[in-house]
Amino acid sequence: METLKVDLGTRSYPIYIGENLLNQAALVQPFVTGKQVLIVTNETIAPLYLEKVQNLFSKFQTKSVILPDGEEFKNLEVLNQIFDTLLEQRFDRQVTLVALGGGVVGDMTGFAAACYQRGVAFIQIPTTLLAQVDSSVGGKTGINHPLGKNMIGAFYQPQCVIIDTKTLDTLDDKQFSSGLAEVIKYGLITDFAFFKWLENNITALLKRDAEALKFTISRSCQNKAQVVAEDELENGRRVILNLGHTFGHAIETGMGYGKVLHGEAVAIGINLAAQFSCQRAWITEAQVQQINTLLETMRLPTKIPPEMNMEKMLQLMQVDKKVIAGQIRLVLLKAIGQAEIVESNATEIRVVLK
Ligand code: NAD
Ligand code: GLY
Repeated sequence: METLKVDLGTRSYPIYIGENLLNQAALVQPFVTGKQVLIVTNETIAPLYLEKVQNLFSKFQTKSVILPDGEEFKNLEVLNQIFDTLLEQRFDRQVTLVALGGGVVGDMTGFAAACYQRGVAFIQIPTTLLAQVDSSVGGKTGINHPLGKNMIGAFYQPQCVIIDTKTLDTLDDKQFSSGLAEVIKYGLITDFAFFKWLENNITALLKRDAEALKFTISRSCQNKAQVVAEDELENGRRVILNLGHTFGHAIETGMGYGKVLHGEAVAIGINLAAQFSCQRAWITEAQVQQINTLLETMRLPTKIPPEMNMEKMLQLMQVDKKVIAGQIRLVLLKAIGQAEIVESNATEIRVVLK
């Protein structure tokens, strides 16, 4: 097992990465603050892993809530099911919430933990590649609004992150590829050596070779933890973790939540950000092609869906947490491995979206 640390002073926490960690009660139990535990999961993950996770917490007063599965359920109404259970069970301020699932369950559980009785402890047990390399780390929690993705939320850090890589055995290839979009992101924004490693090891990674997978998750979490430690509340550098996301979120919202997977939308956004960077003569056309080749090898899309027209994209891009005083901010690439945050405008963006 490997242990990483997210270094945030009094809010620091460990990330444990290894196989079969869901059998290790002694690892997880010390992070439960009181006597009560609420496991939050969904209807797909429950039959696969809920019993195992219930066993981890069997010495506590443990209940579960099983949410419907899908990005389209990451909303206020479904979030309320968590609060209903907490209140029905008379769970107090010392309850610990456990997020068992992908990014949707993780973001919703974290947000519920941030809100319930003004804040209770929570543990992340991510079960998708995307959640293991990105969403379970860093404390961004929240839900979607019909008008904008992730627009309601809180920064709220977990007690620990337990990454059992064996849970990926049941994840389908489409979801696995979706996670790879966030993996390539780290290579592009800060870690050129990792980008090269991905190019050289993509075949092994797509076959889910255990060593390649473990290295990928660990290197991604290291990159993320470092950026988060520098700028927890995204007042500056953390924005770079949103490479491709302004375009991607517009696609997810515009198409209807759940139609295009988050990682797929991010991959399209990464291609657009690369083209934009080329337009500024920061990277070459050959490098844009190099990035697209890797995305396509990862079985990810790179083109905007035909249903999205340019004006709809632009309108949706204006509902983004990076917009300040009406100004769109984007993450571009100065080079492969070096991100730059820029202010942009509709005229410039139209050229890339054409
Ligand atoms: P998801 O949570 O919808 O999970 C994808 C699918 O895989 C779901 O159907 C789920 O039930 C299923 N699943 C999960 N684990 C499984 C397993 N082990 N075996 C079989 N099926 C499994 O999607 P996701 O890609 O994990 O997360 C996307 C969400 O994460 C988006 O809402 C996005 O906004 C959010 N996100 C948040 C952050 C953050 O920093 N908080 C970062 C990136 C993405
Ligand atoms: N996924 C973007 C962030 O955590 O900041």
